[in-house]
Amino acid sequence: MINFKNIIAQKIAKEVELDAKEIEGFIEVPPNEEMGDYAFPCFKLAKVLKKAPPAIATELKEKITTDENIEKIEIVGGYLNFYINKKVLTKTVLEELDKKQENFGTYNSGDGKTVLVEFSSPNIAKPFHIGHLRTTIIGNSLYKIYKFMGYNSISINHLGDYGTQFGKLIEGYKRWGSEYNIDENPIEELMKIYIRINDLCKEDESVLDACRENFRLLEEGDPYCKNLWEKFRDVSLQEFNRIYDLLGVKFDSIKGEASYANSWGEVVDILEKAGKLTESEGAKIVDLEEQGKGVCMITKSNGSTIYATRDLAAIRYRAKTYDFDKCLYVVAYEQALHFRQIFEVAKYLDIPKKCQKGLEHVQYGMVRLSTGKMSTREGNVVKVEDLLNESIDRVKKVIEEKNADMENKEEEAKKIGIGAVIFNNLCTTIIKDQVFDWDTVLNFNGETGPYIQYIYVRTKSVLEKAGYIPNIDEINVNVLQDKQSLNVIKTLYKFGEILEAVVQKNEPSILARYLIDLAGSYSNFYNENKIIDEDKNVQNARVYLSKSVGTVLKTGASLLGIEMPNRM
Ligand code: ARG
Repeated sequence: MINFKNIIAQKIAKEVELDAKEIEGFIEVPPNEEMGDYAFPCFKLAKVLKKAPPAIATELKEKITTDENIEKIEIVGGYLNFYINKKVLTKTVLEELDKKQENFGTYNSGDGKTVLVEFSSPNIAKPFHIGHLRTTIIGNSLYKIYKFMGYNSISINHLGDYGTQFGKLIEGYKRWGSEYNIDENPIEELMKIYIRINDLCKEDESVLDACRENFRLLEEGDPYCKNLWEKFRDVSLQEFNRIYDLLGVKFDSIKGEASYANSWGEVVDILEKAGKLTESEGAKIVDLEEQGKGVCMITKSNGSTIYATRDLAAIRYRAKTYDFDKCLYVVAYEQALHFRQIFEVAKYLDIPKKCQKGLEHVQYGMVRLSTGKMSTREGNVVKVEDLLNESIDRVKKVIEEKNADMENKEEEAKKIGIGAVIFNNLCTTIIKDQVFDWDTVLNFNGETGPYIQYIYVRTKSVLEKAGYIPNIDEINVNVLQDKQSLNVIKTLYKFGEILEAVVQKNEPSILARYLIDLAGSYSNFYNENKIIDEDKNVQNARVYLSKSVGTVLKTGASLLGIEMPNRM
């Protein structure tokens, strides 16, 4: 596909003897169409050329020639505005779509570099809460986008399966296990046991001792304790897997904190040898005060490891196993300090610089539930599985009311209900706190997943009505030069840049917003233009454009983790 920005940059670079890549970075898109398609702010060169921006603009305008790609160049203030040839644009977009189909938008810029995307990472025997839903959705989408862009993208679930609480859980289970229906409703029942044993520990010190002993035995590999722990892990995973299935999420690696048990001693040794460990009230810490990052505890006073140590062991493992270029942690912003600390300590580990530099915390905001049925009272956690199923049920109800004879109702309701929740999690900047509200999530006309699916289905029904898909050679770009058609073309053209921006910023909301724009531009096009037309020339072009929009909407949605329904 023709890269107009690059062509413009080359033209400018030739005249000022600067690097075209650098120039390209300066090129902007003007705030409105009347001002052209691209603008070069000449003040960027004022220093190097030692001239005022308007003078530079005048000089450049005289030297740079227009051609078949660039129609017109104008000066506005210190800006040089470029108008591209819209027919060439239309042609290049449609040809590229024809050539690449569902791969439109990628140039494999990832070049096989390895990116680990760690996300979800719930704690076993504890509820999978709405924050875990958010990391799962964000992480899955980043994972898919990196893969699409040609990275060797690997999804990792860093399961929280380690900690002294398992000593307690084992004790509780030993005492009352048979009273609870763990196989039916594992996490809820295990939570009840946990609360009960915790209360007992507060009353009776000897129970607490028994719990501690269980944990010690577990660490030693005692078969009884280990079996129980494995059972807790298995039943929890079964429950988590139901959620992953609903969301269509798969992991390349599910590896719990406990799996690093054999290697966290090495972390302690390395830090010790490097002279970075200091004692503080029996605990071992790395002092990061100088870097403004507080202190990072490595072992507690009783010698046991903490969350941070296990993360450091995981970093070493990942560096050795994958030799990664990037390792993203999709975790709530509350853990920002933790990650700043372990990334700092990771600089002392025996791993390549490249890996040290590639560690990145992708932070996201909290989810608040709007009042009403969904609100959380203290201790009353919203079950994510129930929430997802409720979304599907609500969609089912709408389908029953409006389109009761729809084919494959169940399946379509699932795609729409789940898509709605996914989109809602991705449509605003991820660091922002988010309010969950059913009326917004499921609004078919709002900036929602269902809206995008609805427009997609519309493109499909256009193709059905036409009954054929024209060949690219049959398309006359001259009939797509009206405002609405061009707007669709321009939006399609941007898809690749949008995906690059997502990867640059680890911000899937850029793609979600883009899909809203694309759906909106198609909707305007559809309202203003008759697609099924007596003039075959016109019809071919409009049908083809509809097909193209459908393809990109589908690819884009799938990169967010959303499936498209066939009907709506
Ligand atoms: N299990 C933790 C939680 O549920 C999240 C783990 C995040 N990942 C990490 N490598 N520390 O809060």
